[in-house]
Amino acid sequence: MKKYAKLICAVLVLALALGLAACGKSEPKNALEKIKADGVLTVALSPDFSPMEFVDSSKSGQDQYVGFDVTLAKYLAEELGVKLEIQAMSFDACQTAVSTGAVPMSISGYSWTETRAENFDLSDYYYAGENETEQVILIRAADADKYTKAEDFDGKDVGAQNASLQMQLVSEQLPNANMVTIGEIGVGVLELQSGNIEGLAVADGNGTQIIANNPDLIKCSWKFDVKAEYEANVVMMHKDEPELLAAVNAALAKAYDSGFYGEWYADALELAASASAIEVSVED
Ligand code: ARG
Repeated sequence: MKKYAKLICAVLVLALALGLAACGKSEPKNALEKIKADGVLTVALSPDFSPMEFVDSSKSGQDQYVGFDVTLAKYLAEELGVKLEIQAMSFDACQTAVSTGAVPMSISGYSWTETRAENFDLSDYYYAGENETEQVILIRAADADKYTKAEDFDGKDVGAQNASLQMQLVSEQLPNANMVTIGEIGVGVLELQSGNIEGLAVADGNGTQIIANNPDLIKCSWKFDVKAEYEANVVMMHKDEPELLAAVNAALAKAYDSGFYGEWYADALELAASASAIEVSVED
């Protein structure tokens, strides 16, 4: 009998050990665990928004994606102890990908907005340089005197990137303009130059970059009224992932405390000014 008791004991111990081992290998319970289990953080972005995300045409593969947000994405991956994989897609596709859960995260120059806060987990603010302290309308330099106030755009075609803050601003502050939804910022620039649209709503810093490469364009003297909360940027994540949100916020706080943001923005500006910098339109 004693012999059997020992055997039963051994079997139980073994079963327990196996059970524990199985536990350790169990399915990841949330987005953060999944990222860690996969060893990869996949980040969607639309590289048509210099200096936040754009392409260095002298490089290829993952290395071609550069800009402030790319540096931030690398930092986050490092903080989570995983590799980074960037998936380039159009700006509205980035948001769809996060909302369907195809990717856990997108870092693409997102302003905080009420609608996004309802539909996504948004991180704490991170510094986006001077990029979005103002929101402007690009017009053709030849039209400088034609467009000087909001009403001048009444009945005119004004472009804004699909699913962007700029789209919201045009519909709220230029209600009588005819808003034209543009998939990619670069396409909007061409439409403006060719006379298909009269204005293109963009973030101020992004506008500066565009004008540097397109001297036939200028910023309209009239500017949008912008709420302070739209100025900084946020990381967009799939809704209801508190563990991932907390990890991202902790990393952002660490980057801020380390004084990295200013450095990253200066580097991004420098790269944006180099000859190999291009803004790429990704067709989905
Ligand atoms: N900040 C603006 C927004 O939140 C524009 C961002 C555009 N980003 C991009 N990668 N095209 O909508």
